[in-house]
Amino acid sequence: MALIRIAALSDLGPGVMITGAAGGTHLVLCNHNGTIHAFADRCPHRNGPLSQGNFVDGRLICPWHAWEFRCDTGCYDYNPAIELQRFPVVIQGEDVFVDA
Ligand code: FES
Repeated sequence: MALIRIAALSDLGPGVMITGAAGGTHLVLCNHNGTIHAFADRCPHRNGPLSQGNFVDGRLICPWHAWEFRCDTGCYDYNPAIELQRFPVVIQGEDVFVDA
């Protein structure tokens, strides 16, 4: 595992979703109530690109079939056993890193 800088903290204000990459992994990052979360940018349903969907009321909404995932837990609304792949986030100064 290695810390990889993804963005400036100022790019990820509350309610904001961005995309990034760590090594060969595409990521989606979201700020829910001041806490930043990072997930693989791949929906567990049929691999839809979550970063091309929406981020509304703390939920990442897949653009392909509208499955909704809680940003704080990474869980699918209707079946919490289905989760996004999560990566640890580290804030250092004004920078956001992901441990990937
Ligand atoms: S691929 Fe995401 S809801 Fe179907």
